[in-house]
Amino acid sequence: MSRRILIAGNWKMNCLQADGTALAADLASRMKSGSVKCDMLVCPPFTLLKGVLDAVAGSGIAVGGQDCHAAEKGAHTGDTSAWMLKDLGCAAVIVGHSERRTNHAETDAVVKAKAEAALAAGLMVIVCIGETLDERDAGKTLEVNRTQVQGSLPDGATAENTVIAYEPVWAIGTGRTATPDQAQEVHAAIRSELRGKLGEAAANGMRILYGGSMNAKNAADLLSQADIDGGLIGGAALKADDFWTIAQSCP
Ligand code: PGA
Repeated sequence: MSRRILIAGNWKMNCLQADGTALAADLASRMKSGSVKCDMLVCPPFTLLKGVLDAVAGSGIAVGGQDCHAAEKGAHTGDTSAWMLKDLGCAAVIVGHSERRTNHAETDAVVKAKAEAALAAGLMVIVCIGETLDERDAGKTLEVNRTQVQGSLPDGATAENTVIAYEPVWAIGTGRTATPDQAQEVHAAIRSELRGKLGEAAANGMRILYGGSMNAKNAADLLSQADIDGGLIGGAALKADDFWTIAQSCP
């Protein structure tokens, strides 16, 4: 089954308005004059969402949030709901990024609740999973990722509304990328776990992105792997040339 590649930029806590909207406008103008064979998504920080949505309007680039609360509304100071993202014009949201699991003590159960809120609000959800270096060194990579698939995926997940991002924690922002073989091994294990959980059709259709120091040089090799269906890109998503080169690397 052919899965359309998704190239998603996770801007994390970077860019002020001028830089963020300029980056978005740069990507939008490349989209209008060139062509890519993949879906494109950018996930800027909350403060930039409106400006970026305006800058990419009509370009085919979708915009998403980097996190959402599990509740629709209420007494949750500092949080943003999935419904608020949807209301603004967002198409997607990332949940369960390892930086949130670490910095905000988010468990699989919390991530699952957020993912279910995203689906209820009508957003596509990108659920992040991945092992730490200690877990890899202990030979627990596949087990950890299988457990996170079971614990973090929302009820109601389909190939259309849910994307998984496999991001080995040791590769995020370190310049140390998983080799294409290492990544493919985990992606294949994730897909086989999905087969048991969601059935053959959903497992075959669901996109599994790789994230962790993906860049303009290594993207083509990673994206050519059978079970790697795109990238969740941090550092290299902040440079239009690099992000565009990655998008052009789609097989
Ligand atoms: P990186 O980040 O590309 O800078 O490693 C990826 C991510 O954390 O999503």
